[in-house]
Amino acid sequence: MNQKKEIVLSGIRPTGFVHLGNYFGAIRNWVNMQREFNCFYCIVDWHSLTTHPDTRELPANVIRLLSELIGSGLDPDQCVLYIQSDVPEIAELYLYLNMLAYKGELDKTTTFKDKVRQNPDNVNAGLLTYPVLQSADILIHRAVKVPVGKDQEQHIEMTRNFAERFNHRYGEIFPMPYAFNYGEDLIKIMSLDGKGKMSKSENQMNTLYLADEDDAIRKKIMRATTDSGPVVPHSPKPDYIEGLYTLLRIVSEPAVVDKFEADYNACTIRYGDLKKQLAEDMVRFITPIRQKTESIRADEKYMRMVMEQGAAKARTSAKATLQLVRDAIGLKYY
Ligand code: TYM
Repeated sequence: MNQKKEIVLSGIRPTGFVHLGNYFGAIRNWVNMQREFNCFYCIVDWHSLTTHPDTRELPANVIRLLSELIGSGLDPDQCVLYIQSDVPEIAELYLYLNMLAYKGELDKTTTFKDKVRQNPDNVNAGLLTYPVLQSADILIHRAVKVPVGKDQEQHIEMTRNFAERFNHRYGEIFPMPYAFNYGEDLIKIMSLDGKGKMSKSENQMNTLYLADEDDAIRKKIMRATTDSGPVVPHSPKPDYIEGLYTLLRIVSEPAVVDKFEADYNACTIRYGDLKKQLAEDMVRFITPIRQKTESIRADEKYMRMVMEQGAAKARTSAKATLQLVRDAIGLKYY
């Protein structure tokens, strides 16, 4: 690995099928960054335990996610692709960082408050300290760039706070990480009904998955929420319409986007035509990823090799950081 290149880390939970929010918010950047930087990408199975999933499904979920990541263009020879629980050093760093994380700030985290609202019977300490574990994921490789979607911004800010407190107390060990998206604002992909972000727990009909068959993609897009169109030229777009244009901008040709923008501004937009175009462009985009994912998953020997090699490389990097951390804290008695 080239030591001079900047270090990148990001993670994804094995809690369901990869959807377009994951892809355009994060994975697309992961793929683009792998040649340019020293990249570590992690399937965060420990994080998924905070919401008490049925762990009998975990192996299948982890394997599927790994194949979807490779199917999306991650190359295990270009980046370090590994599973969080294969790297116990992360748990030790999590322990040290927990002493620097205060209950008041953890209580105020948006994702924590959401989870408490959704599931008031499972407010466990792992959920409260979720951002601390995420910080350990990042800091264990002393990463700087963290390619994530908009919803993770607050967690990365907290990581900076914990890193700063550690450096202040024990000495400069960690560089300051930041949320990264190639020179642009962080991305938020809306669900197809425009109500909130696309997410793994959303209604499946409003979420586009990389595993969706062509007909499912067409069906979901054709029933996305629209209205009868603007009546005043150059009106602002409601959220559910803006969401469709965001997808169009990502998968369609610029000339196509320009045409539908002009139609909208002139109040001549026909949403049926827009959706048909978007559906075909989306099918063209997703189909090769789905096909590659399926063929990778069938190769069990390769999948196993990827996991073993990823774990070994990630542990080498993690051990080096942990040694610095232990020395800085002063955990050496003989
Ligand atoms: P997770 O598994 O929910 O999502 C993985 C990535 O997908 C992005 N994302 C979105 N981006 C735009 N629009 C959406 N609708 C959308 N939905 C999801 C997320 O921003 C994320 O980048 N806590 C993290 C996992 C994690 C992590 C880390 C990330 C654990 N340790 C260390 C970065 C660094 C999470 O739950 O992501």
